[in-house]
Amino acid sequence: MASRSELVSWQALENSAQKMAQTHLKTLFAQDDSRFSQFSTHIPGVLFDYSKQRIDEKVFAQLISLAKECDIEAWREKMFAGEKINITEDRAVLHTALRNRAHTPLIVDGENITEAVDSELAKIKTFVEKVRSGQWLGYTGKAVKDVVSIGVGGSNLGPQTATEALKAVVDKPLNVHYVSNADGVQIASVLNKVDPETTLFVISSKTFTTSETMTNSKTAVDWFLNSAKDKSAIAKHFVAVSTNLEKTAAFGISDENVFTMWDWVGGRFSLWSAIGLPIALYAGFEAFEAILEGAFEVDEHFKSAPLEQNIPLIMALLSVWNTSFLGFDSQAILPYDQALHMLPAYLQQGEMESNGKHVTFDGQTVPYTTVPIIWGMTGINGQHAFYQCLHQGNVIVPADFIGSVKPQVNVDKHHNILLSNFFAQTEALMNGVDAQQITADLAAKGKTPAQIEMLLKHKIHQGNRPTTSILLDTVDAKAVGRLIALYEHKIFCHGILLQICSFDQWGVELGKGLASKIEAELTDDNVVNEHDSSTQGLMAYYKQHRTQ
Ligand code: F6P
Repeated sequence: MASRSELVSWQALENSAQKMAQTHLKTLFAQDDSRFSQFSTHIPGVLFDYSKQRIDEKVFAQLISLAKECDIEAWREKMFAGEKINITEDRAVLHTALRNRAHTPLIVDGENITEAVDSELAKIKTFVEKVRSGQWLGYTGKAVKDVVSIGVGGSNLGPQTATEALKAVVDKPLNVHYVSNADGVQIASVLNKVDPETTLFVISSKTFTTSETMTNSKTAVDWFLNSAKDKSAIAKHFVAVSTNLEKTAAFGISDENVFTMWDWVGGRFSLWSAIGLPIALYAGFEAFEAILEGAFEVDEHFKSAPLEQNIPLIMALLSVWNTSFLGFDSQAILPYDQALHMLPAYLQQGEMESNGKHVTFDGQTVPYTTVPIIWGMTGINGQHAFYQCLHQGNVIVPADFIGSVKPQVNVDKHHNILLSNFFAQTEALMNGVDAQQITADLAAKGKTPAQIEMLLKHKIHQGNRPTTSILLDTVDAKAVGRLIALYEHKIFCHGILLQICSFDQWGVELGKGLASKIEAELTDDNVVNEHDSSTQGLMAYYKQHRTQ
């Protein structure tokens, strides 16, 4: 397979990147006052403005040509049709089937998976309604007051991100607590707060083998049995979400308490499946369905919008442009909405676990940077932490600014203040502040020429720092679905554009295997494996000091 860097569009983009390195965004805006209308688009509930990216008409056309040369439309069809595009695991990639609100049949390996999805959704609905209405009773006949969701990675981040996003707008929420870390402090603090008689545990694990999740689940069962005494009570307090019925049964969870996952859903794309059960328990089944509806709208947009207006594709093209051509190795996610405070963490897994790879589909080493390092936090807090570096550091970090027109909670002037910061920051990052402006400003403040000279260089902001602005109508369940689906399709496009298999995670598997070997050595002195001197030294120091 020809390398992407051999494509005509790729080579044209390399030339353009050299020219663009000499061009300031400020100049591009000054030259063309239609820039915003040219480089922004919207779908219901979402305004997408990429006019502050370092592109011009020519670069944009070349990026679109790149998408065409990479056969993006054909790949998109393959994904939606259930072809096994997860080549290293020989699996289809069908998280879109989980939110197929048109309910069109889709046959995978001889099974109509639309029917399977719809029947699982019906099971979730019935269960959620029973729990939330108080009909589901615990072992002493009391209704559920708290849900503890145990899972990690994709079996945690999606549900927790969505739960956090809906906190301020949910009607009659049930208490939901998330436990993901193997650090006992997390589960201990949750178990301290809940009552075994009124707590329901949801163990979410596609494989049902993930060590952190199994460790936390075992602790939860022990804690529960300490009060309930009777193993048969487990059925009333533990449910699981998994593909692995053998393991769930071995763990003691009866089959009717297991919600199904499928091989064709990757962990980090699974919040639309029963992995989203904690969201439905927290916010109600209707809210969960609204998340699915929002995502479905974006699926339809992604399938049918022309490439030039296709938001996920444009997001991916900009990422490739910034990372692989302009050499910007990281990407900040900056929500100006408290509700979206977990989005950076969610996208760290989504983007980096998917596209943090170094070889192409056919195993060739990729000669350019693939995925940028994704990081961030809520914008306002970030402003008082790392924005100094975004404005004046000698690294350039493209950033996605995400906010909403209508606040979830309207408090006095807060939202105007919040959004003023959003808009001001993108403007400042684009424009910067030059010597002339600073000199005039300092002179107006009465500074002497010597004082001005001393301060001048420190106060220069070069600007020319690319940002994308995503403005949602408001953060509600539908918007959460839309936003996450936009990024999911971006991730897919990014992988295709770079010829990367986005749906495996061999790098994570490596760590899992090594940790279990070392765990055996930390538990039993008779188990000895070979290690380098650093690892050996760390283990010896730990073993020597842990009981002192
Ligand atoms: O983090 C690695 C990973 O394999 C993810 O892809 C997955 O979401 C997570 O572990 C949890 O896996 P499981 O759902 O099987 O417990």
